[in-house]
Amino acid sequence: MDMSPPIHRWMKDDLDRSVFQKSVTVLAARIPARDTTTLLKSDALRRYIMDVPKIRSVVWDPSGTQGQRLVLLKVPTEAALSPEARILLTEHSAELVDHTIRLNYDYWTADDILQAILPEELLNGSPTGFSVTGHIAHLNLNKEYLPYKKIIGKVILDKNPAIKTVVNKIDNIDNKFRFFKMELLAGEPNFVVEHHESNCRFTFDFSKVYWNSRLHTEHDRLVQLFKPEDVVADVFAGVGPFAIPAARKGCAVLANDLNPDSACFLSTNIVKNNVADLVRASCEDGRDFIRDAIFNVLENPFPPYLGPKPSRLKEKKLRRDRQASERSSQDSVYPLESTLPPRKVVTRFVMNLPDSALDFLDAFRGVMVTRDRIGGELGRLYDAMPMIHCYCFTRELEPVKAEADIRLRVEAKIGHKIEEDVDLHLVRSVAPNKDMYCVSFRLPRPVAFAR
Ligand SMILES: C[S@@+](CC[C@H](N)C(=O)[O-])C[C@H]1O[C@@H](n2cnc3c(N)ncnc32)[C@H](O)[C@@H]1O
Repeated sequence: MDMSPPIHRWMKDDLDRSVFQKSVTVLAARIPARDTTTLLKSDALRRYIMDVPKIRSVVWDPSGTQGQRLVLLKVPTEAALSPEARILLTEHSAELVDHTIRLNYDYWTADDILQAILPEELLNGSPTGFSVTGHIAHLNLNKEYLPYKKIIGKVILDKNPAIKTVVNKIDNIDNKFRFFKMELLAGEPNFVVEHHESNCRFTFDFSKVYWNSRLHTEHDRLVQLFKPEDVVADVFAGVGPFAIPAARKGCAVLANDLNPDSACFLSTNIVKNNVADLVRASCEDGRDFIRDAIFNVLENPFPPYLGPKPSRLKEKKLRRDRQASERSSQDSVYPLESTLPPRKVVTRFVMNLPDSALDFLDAFRGVMVTRDRIGGELGRLYDAMPMIHCYCFTRELEPVKAEADIRLRVEAKIGHKIEEDVDLHLVRSVAPNKDMYCVSFRLPRPVAFAR
């Protein structure tokens, strides 16, 4: 039974959905409706019943005969049925008839339709793979598919109800702020998405800021390492996929991005996710940010961690309860104020700019002595040095060689060996000869206090 769509290889830009029509005639057993279950379950007939996705194998009799149904069969003629099946049908007064199934554009998948449109030499690769960010489907078409990009976009839009916009990446990420240049293939020219990750809501303009849904697992992995009491300095924060989940967990965060659009959406996301008390956004060069972060937190500390953050509703209720109880007793239900000391110490730096983050590491040399007048205080405050989580690429594909390569580059930049709490994590393979890693290490004390 050939259920494939009719071939229309003449289409290129305009998608004519009306030409995708097909009638398929199949053999069917007309049976009394009351016998349907018995026949469907019978060993003799079961293996002959049609089993095609999205097509019902039992339908009302289109001839309108009351109380009759058609069971669609996958054999072409009565002769192909076993004697037992024929006897069973006779016992149930079944009559074999032809039944016509009418298929249209809605029946076929995006792949089916494109296989019927694209030239034969392009049928092997599938252009229907895409990643989804909010309502946007994001394709990365090989150049041989480009003459068909508009029609590919339209088919993907039709076949994915949650998608409202289809774009194609038109360049490698090569601009300073790491976002894709993209062109609209189909749907609304609206690039501001609302995307959900790690139970947080992110709003951003996908055509102006960096976002990569494939980093979801890595964002989660790193945030899981954080303790709620941590103070995190996110040097290349983007629109907040580390910073906001970290703050939801209780961490205090300095989140920075040089792209003004990223910094702007980061600020929006901070408010939308109810973490304005814990995240401070900035828009400066990563090197300046690193050199200022430690003093910023020292001079303007964060409040202490007070336990899991209640939801807005729960917080309102706790405040009400607290006010009520203050009238009767001094005890509070939730410690909205605390006697714990404020958070003055940056415990982690996150540096996700894999192309060049290693080049920023020299900014840590002398980072704790740049403002001499309080340098002494920092020596006492920082009994443990901050952890640095730095992303990078390497062309060494064997783990041992990759580690040696990355270690060498880190140590050359900071001018010191890394020995304490060193960990290397393979994030993903970005190209056949290029892997992305996260190297974590504790900032060596002599580097932070180097003069
Ligand atoms: C690879 S993205 C990572 C964003 C985010 N942390 C994430 O995981 O999705 C790197 C970010 O660094 C920002 N950036 C590029 N150069 C920078 C610089 N010199 N200083 C600060 N931010 C920079 C880009 O705008 C971009 O948002």
